[in-house]
Amino acid sequence: MVSLEELKAIFKPKLRPIIWKEDTLTLLDQSALPFQTVYIDVKTPEEVARAIKLMQVRGAPAIGITAGYGMVLALTSSKPSTLNEAIETLVKAKQIMDQARPTAVNLSWATSRMLNFAKKKIDEGEAKNVNELIQLMKEEANRIFEEELDAELKIGMYGLEKINEGDTILTQCNAGGLATGTGLGTALAPVKLAHYLGMKVSVIAPETRPWLQGSRLTVYELMAEGIPVTLITDTAVGLVMYKNMVNSVMVGADRILKDGHVFNKIGTFKEAVIAHELGIPFYALAPSSSFDLKSKADEIKIEERDPNEVRTIRGIPTAPENVKVYNPVFDVTPPKYVTALITEKGVIYPPFEKNVPKVLGL
Ligand code: MRU
Repeated sequence: MVSLEELKAIFKPKLRPIIWKEDTLTLLDQSALPFQTVYIDVKTPEEVARAIKLMQVRGAPAIGITAGYGMVLALTSSKPSTLNEAIETLVKAKQIMDQARPTAVNLSWATSRMLNFAKKKIDEGEAKNVNELIQLMKEEANRIFEEELDAELKIGMYGLEKINEGDTILTQCNAGGLATGTGLGTALAPVKLAHYLGMKVSVIAPETRPWLQGSRLTVYELMAEGIPVTLITDTAVGLVMYKNMVNSVMVGADRILKDGHVFNKIGTFKEAVIAHELGIPFYALAPSSSFDLKSKADEIKIEERDPNEVRTIRGIPTAPENVKVYNPVFDVTPPKYVTALITEKGVIYPPFEKNVPKVLGL
């Protein structure tokens, strides 16, 4: 296995989707890519929630990191005068940001972590006033970012073991560095690291209607790295697998349950079923912050977005104006189709109910 130190030395981020500098949070507006490179500053939890809703920042880990900084912004923007007021402000900020999008667990994971951290630092007497609390919260938000990058390097290290010279990986959506905020990614980490190590690897990216994360973001991100990528329509997924053009499927995840159910971008389930039928390995790659060990599959809300995303393609009508539309943007893949889950703690094989808590150490 290639060592983590070696991988750390070769990874140089080419994208900076989330920048925290001098108390300002700047986001690369992913809704404008790849046609325009626009950065936006967000200053309050309300503005963070808006950017998440509009998908200017998207992808499970990236929205988690952003919301972590959003908890700092809650304090810097509203300037509470007492520690009690600070906690009230943070509780409210958490509520505002958590409801921005429902499926990715990383969002509430990050806001809970920041809130619990604040309470602990006050209880332990380490934060004696609001300024001290803000300073400690900034450090914690930076830690969420740094831990995410570390997790992705480890996911890449374990995922590399599943890639051979000459392989082509089918993915879905964008689970690269844009989706995680670090410039590396989860599902795309093994491919990128393999490429940096000089291996010949390529990716097939379905366009991922309706928001086109595949054609707009994955293709952009991989081309920027010089990694060969072929764009297909979502409807070509079955054929490329049937024609032996795919060695493995690697996708990210918005939420993974203890029993191995994987919630990810719409279209993932179809890829998993076809891969299973044709004997192609299907891997979901995600950090432990994307795991939800408490919920059952039918309790998870699958986000539905604006019907006009389906009636049009980026504003151009493609259907009669008032046609009834169903626009779920995530789906759920049952565990029987999942070959393994690749996390920073290691590779998790079935039976998931037993092995997920064991490998994650939870
Ligand atoms: O709707 P999006 O673009 O936020 O959906 C993103 C995905 O489904 C990703 O696969 C998932 O968040 C994992 S990102 C590393």
